[in-house]
Amino acid sequence: MPWPGHAGDAGRDAAGRAVYVRPAAIPFPAANPFTQAKAELGRKLFSDPALAGAGDRACASCHDPVLAFQDGRARADGLDGAPLPRRTPFIADAAWGERFFWDGRAASLEEQALGPIQNPREMNQTLDGLVRAVAADPAYPPLFAAAFPEAPRITADTIAKALATFERTLLSPQSRFDRWLAGDDQALDDSARRGLALFTGAAGCTLCHSGWALTDHAFHDIGRPDEDLGRGPILGEATLDHAFKTPSLRNVGNRAPYMHDGSLPTLAAVIEHYARDHPDRPSLSPDLPRIDLSAADKADLVAFLHALDGEAPAPALPAVIAESLAAVEAPPVIRQKDKQFSLAHVRLRAGQTLIVHNDDRREHNVRYATDAGRDYNSGIQEPGDTVAMPFPAPGTYHVYCGIHPKMKLDVDVE
Ligand code: HEC
Ligand code: HEC
Repeated sequence: MPWPGHAGDAGRDAAGRAVYVRPAAIPFPAANPFTQAKAELGRKLFSDPALAGAGDRACASCHDPVLAFQDGRARADGLDGAPLPRRTPFIADAAWGERFFWDGRAASLEEQALGPIQNPREMNQTLDGLVRAVAADPAYPPLFAAAFPEAPRITADTIAKALATFERTLLSPQSRFDRWLAGDDQALDDSARRGLALFTGAAGCTLCHSGWALTDHAFHDIGRPDEDLGRGPILGEATLDHAFKTPSLRNVGNRAPYMHDGSLPTLAAVIEHYARDHPDRPSLSPDLPRIDLSAADKADLVAFLHALDGEAPAPALPAVIAESLAAVEAPPVIRQKDKQFSLAHVRLRAGQTLIVHNDDRREHNVRYATDAGRDYNSGIQEPGDTVAMPFPAPGTYHVYCGIHPKMKLDVDVE
């Protein structure tokens, strides 16, 4: 059955394959550009237990480099000995992330990094204590001087920037799928190839696991039975209850157990989840497949997922500053089909409104928040709904969808 918006049979042509090819460079934000010195400082901070309140836990204690930057557990233990509410996620390829944590509550890696440090059950450290602990180690001042030559200060901000820079250099390893994409037809066996055809076709997986990292970076309720409400409470929208971020599937076979709560032990169990009936609740994603899979289909899907497992180190990629497109005069209506704004960067005059029409078959949520405290939130924008976004004052506004944050629209107001 053809699925609207699916990526097509990726095996058929070069254009189909191109969608899955790893980008040629790592994007860094202009506000925190890459330098080798900053990445090296971040690497040291990442594995330094001195960052924790009791000096007993590093980022790497949970995001273990030898365990694909995860910990191989359903849920890591909190400092009180009881499991944390959610599983330690994959942090490779985070340079391409849109929002962080399973529920997307952090807008950047810089913002994310200070979360676990201050969490009483994770590292239990105050920001003042953090700065004191780092400054107390004589190895650090010269490293901060090299990393931040203009203002070599040890602050929560520079610590977060160094950690984020290091994290952006973490890439998922090369896989048989990458070799196949590069033209080695033998890299996928028949079963994996059938699995790929199902994944991009009848099974509808690419409705959410799309693009080179096999994620749309968006939030969906896929019907897991637990009580965690995920993105819903963050957005204040019940239709996003039980919605979690679509995980990347790169190196997935080496990252068991699965899901935000680590509740599924194997890839076979994940496929069984998709093949089962789902709870009948209003938040359930309309993109969730309702499919009959034979035992052979299930095995083929698992074979394809294993073709994403790492078999060689990631390629060395250059660092670039992520650029946005040049602004164009705003057209009368911006459209939102297939989880994309029809333009990425427009120009308006102060006081003008921007008309945004949802011609997708999904709900959206357009919003912005400015440093000057001006906020706009459309609430849930149903398919067919049109909203008029106000832009009261000059400046640049970063508009995005709270459900599909890869949908981004910069608005320059003159
Ligand atoms: C006790 C284990 C633990 C420690 C220590 C820890 N993390 Fe995490 N990390 C987690 C868990 C669990 C989550 C998911 C939490 C959630 O989504 O609510 C997470 C989420 C993240 C994410 C978000 C990934 C994504 O794609 O959304 C990043 C990035 C991250 N951690 C980096 C760090 C850094 C940097 C440190 C050190 C400053 C750190 N972590 C320390 C367990 C840990
Ligand atoms: C409606 C969007 C959507 C569709 C369609 C979808 N997934 Fe997912 N997938 C997700 C989300 C969201 C999660 C994480 C859910 C959670 O943690 O509770 C997930 C988790 C997974 C995981 C676990 C990854 C991890 O690191 O925990 C695998 C494997 C997976 N999906 C494979 C598939 C396959 C195979 C298909 C097609 C049969 C598919 N998905 C279809 C959204 C989707």
